[in-house]
Amino acid sequence: MVKKFYYILHPRPVYVIGSGSVRNNEINFMAASWVMPVAEDVPSICFACDRENKTFELIEKYSQFSVNVVDDINLIWKLGTSSGKEIDKVREFGLKVISGKVLDVPILENNLAFLETKVINFIDIGEVRLYISEVKNFGGNLEEYGIKEYWKIPLHKGGKAFANISKELKFIK
Ligand SMILES: Cc1cc2nc3c(=O)[nH]c(=O)nc-3n(C[C@H](O)[C@H](O)[C@H](O)COP(=O)(O)O)c2cc1C
Repeated sequence: MVKKFYYILHPRPVYVIGSGSVRNNEINFMAASWVMPVAEDVPSICFACDRENKTFELIEKYSQFSVNVVDDINLIWKLGTSSGKEIDKVREFGLKVISGKVLDVPILENNLAFLETKVINFIDIGEVRLYISEVKNFGGNLEEYGIKEYWKIPLHKGGKAFANISKELKFIK
């Protein structure tokens, strides 16, 4: 029996949100799968962030965050089950961090791709703040259709269960 309504919308890609400021050496990372594109004219995404998170505090302070695509599900799990309120995740997990090129956002060096985003709006719903954030820069190991090694993008099925994308591409005739 499916207990959670949102499992209907899973599996979905899971990302790592980088928040804070590299310049100020105030840096945190968390796992997030409730992330999606919003508009193209204003290149933007949204991200549903629990207001209890350390990430929430840092996004409120700096109005910016990065979205990192990484293939290490063990790291994703660690970043998604510990809080920057209790530990320094960068030090604890030995993370290699680089700065964004356009924004001062922390980015995981070992990424398949990343977005640098600046918050432009938000809506509070229940426990969550839904951030709408403008994409100021993006990069990674990309080709015409996006991330080159797309089959490495982990999908979160629910709880501790993750899945992978098939390597086979199907083209519409
Ligand atoms: C696979 C996975 C996906 C997650 N997706 C989200 C999400 O989209 N939004 C959210 O607020 N928390 C999400 N979480 C939970 C946060 O990552 C978790 O609460 C984390 O401890 C917050 O870290 P922080 O306090 O350092 O910001 C997810 C956790 C996992 C393991």
